[in-house]
This record gives sequence, C-alpha cells and structure tokens, in this order.
Amino acid sequence: MTGAGAGAPEVHVGEPAAVTEALADDLESVARESLAQQQRFTIAIPGGSVATICFPRLALLSLDWSAIDFFWTDERAVPPDHADSNYAAARSLWLEPARVPEERLHRMRGEEDLERAAREYADELESIAGRPPRLDYALLGVGVDGHVASLFPDRLTLDDPRPVQPVTDSPKPPRRRLTLSLGMLARARRVAIVAFGIEKATPIREALANAASMLPIARLVRAAPECVMFLGRDLAELL
Ligand code: 6PG
Repeated sequence: MTGAGAGAPEVHVGEPAAVTEALADDLESVARESLAQQQRFTIAIPGGSVATICFPRLALLSLDWSAIDFFWTDERAVPPDHADSNYAAARSLWLEPARVPEERLHRMRGEEDLERAAREYADELESIAGRPPRLDYALLGVGVDGHVASLFPDRLTLDDPRPVQPVTDSPKPPRRRLTLSLGMLARARRVAIVAFGIEKATPIREALANAASMLPIARLVRAAPECVMFLGRDLAELL
C-alpha cells in the first residue's frame, strides 16, 4: 500500500456539535489553501452517521463549490434515489443546500454491474485526480469492527491495488457495495476520520496505539501522509 505515514494523527475531542465545528474549520482551511494554490480541490465523502451529523454544517461553509469535485468513499448497491444511498444522503444534507453544481458530483453507480461501475469510477477519478488518482481530502467514518469506507477487516481485497473495488460480502447491510480501496484512501493528501459513540473506542484505540493492528482503520492511519481525527468526548475518555 502506498502512503508515507506521518506519525501520530492530530486529534480533536468534544461534543458532536463542537467536533463538527472543528471538522468544518479543518476542511475550510485545507480547501481554501488548495483552491488558492491549484484552483481546485477534490474530496471523497462517506455515508452513515458522519453524513447525518456533520453534513448540514459543512453545507454552510463559504467555499467556491464550482471548483470542488466531490467523490464518494463508498456506496451501497442501490439506485441514487434509494433511502440507503450515500449519494442521496449527501445530496439532501450538503450538496443541494450548498448548491454544488451537478458537474462537480461524481456519483458511484451502485445500481449497475459492480465490476464495470468500479472500473468506470476509477477512470473518472483518474480524469480529475491524476494517475494514480490522488484526492486532496478523504473524509471517513469508522465502523465498530474497524472498517472504513466499505473496507472490512480480514479481507484479501485490502491489498487490491485497484483504486475502486466492488464488494459483495459486506457484513454491514446491504452486502453489495462499491468502495475506494485502502491504497486510494491512503494516497489522499489529508485523511479525516470522524467517530462518535463509546462502541467505537476499541477500533480508535487500536488505530492510535497498536502499531501492528491490521484493522482497516489502523492501516489507513499508519499509511496516510496526514491524518486528523475528530472524536466524541465519551469515546475519547475511554482511550
Ligand atoms: C456507509 C459508510 C460507511 C460508514 C461506516 C460508519 O456506507 O455507511 O460510508 O463507511 O462511514 O460504516 O458508519 P456509521 O458512522 O453510521 O457508524
């Protein structure tokens, strides 16, 4: 897996509203810097609790949305208007309220043949983020089992070099998904991980303190060139 790994992540702790505020500040300053330097910014965004808790605040950021390309970290194998769609969640909570132009939205086509959709998404990433594709910012939640995006523990596909992978055996429903690979996520210039809830203390502790952990979150934290964590206070008290 590529990625330089830059030592211990920066960690922000607080109640969900304060943590979301810290995330908003982080994203805003990194995006502004990138927009000033390269007139563009690429980000991958998740579904799950990060979307419901944080996206409404991120929609209020004062950024030039016409220069920011949105990709997804992962998607469930459902149509884009389905209640389980990560794209639909992001649209309603962030992208529509912020009026992000349609052409900046790069949706994973989870409702199509997954192998083909993964290849096409890799092409789309390459056309905008270079070859191999490198995102400016990867925003991720984490599962209780230590998964990130739809990369689950103990899967051989964790070492798959492709930037985008089909998933047919997700333990978190639905089983069929698309996901950015661990290598793709670890290449991002900055990886931001958000976790709320005491049940996520175990994977976060492992990522921060066990240098030999093979959990997807731990591998990503080790490999990312820059990593920042935003943690709920109750969870952080258990670390
Ligand atoms: C999804 C997400 C997924 C999520 C984690 C954590 O499809 O749900 O993109 O990667 O970030 O599963 O989910 P929660 O934050 O809801 O626990």
